[in-house]
Amino acid sequence: IFGSTVILFDKYLGRFGIETSYVPLSDLEAWERAIRPQTRLLFVETPSNPLMELGDIRALADLAHAHDCLLVVDNCFCTPILQRPLELGADIVIHSATKYIDGQGRCMGGAVVGDEKRVGEEVFGVLRTAGPSMSPFNAWVFLHGLETLALRMKAHSHNADLLANWLENHPKVERVHYPGLPSHPQADLAARQMDLPGGMLAFEVEGGREAAWKVIDAMRMISITANLGDVKSTVTHPATTTHGRLTPEQRAEAGISDGLIRISVGLEDVADIQADIGRGLDVL
Ligand SMILES: Cc1ncc(COP(=O)(O)O)c(C=O)c1O
Repeated sequence: IFGSTVILFDKYLGRFGIETSYVPLSDLEAWERAIRPQTRLLFVETPSNPLMELGDIRALADLAHAHDCLLVVDNCFCTPILQRPLELGADIVIHSATKYIDGQGRCMGGAVVGDEKRVGEEVFGVLRTAGPSMSPFNAWVFLHGLETLALRMKAHSHNADLLANWLENHPKVERVHYPGLPSHPQADLAARQMDLPGGMLAFEVEGGREAAWKVIDAMRMISITANLGDVKSTVTHPATTTHGRLTPEQRAEAGISDGLIRISVGLEDVADIQADIGRGLDVL
C-alpha cells in the first residue's frame, strides 16, 4: 500500500493503541489468519500502489463481515468509473481526490464515501471538529473534474493498455505490472471487479536505482512527480519517493525493487508517450 498509509497506520494510529498487521493482499487465507478477536477493520488498496496487485473486494467484504469487521477500500487508482467497491460489499471507500478526480494536478483533497451513519455522521463529525476541511475553491475544482472523469478514465485505460503490451515485449524491460495484461497473476479478478484496467502501470529494469534514475532522467515529455492521475503522463521512482520512507526491508517484503518505475499514463497521443519511454529505455 501507499507509503504514507503505512506511516499513518504504524506511527500515528499506533499512538492511539491501534495495531496494524500486514498481509500479502492477494492471499485470502493470510487475511483470515491475521484477524484477531480485537480486529475491527480490514483495509485494502486495489490495485495497489505501485505493483498493481489486486485484493478480491467481494471476498474480503464477506471475510470482514463474518468477523464483525468493516472493509475499507482505497479506490484511488480506479475511481468509481472503473470500480465500485460499495456494490461489492465494502463499507467505506476512500479516494485521494488530488489524483484522477482533479485530473490536472491543481488541488489537494480527498473523499470518504459510505453510508449516512458511519460517514455522514461519524466521519463528518470528526472532520468538522478536528478541522481538515476542504476549501470551497478546491471543492469547486473537484466538482468540475467529475464532469470529465468517465471520459478521462476510459482514455487513460486505453493508452495504458497499449503501452503495457508494448513494454512487455521491450528487450530492456524485465517485468511489467498492469492488471490488463493476460500475464498479470490476477487477470481474471481484474476482469471481474474492474470495468477497465486503469491508467497506472509499473515496470522493472535491470540495474537497480542507478538504471531506473537514468531511464527517468532521459525522458523529456513525461514529468517526474510523485503525483498521479493527471492528464499529463508522469513518472515516479517508488523506492525513493512514494515508498522512500519505508525501510529497505519493508520495501523488499512488499516487492518494491530499486529498478521499479511507475508511470501514470496520461492522455497525450500514445505514440508520443511511447517514444518518450523508449527514449528513456534507450540509455540502458
Ligand atoms: C493509493 C493511494 N492512496 C492514497 C494516496 C494519498 O493521497 P493524498 O496525498 O492526496 O492524501 C495516494 C497517493 O499517491 C495513493 O497512491
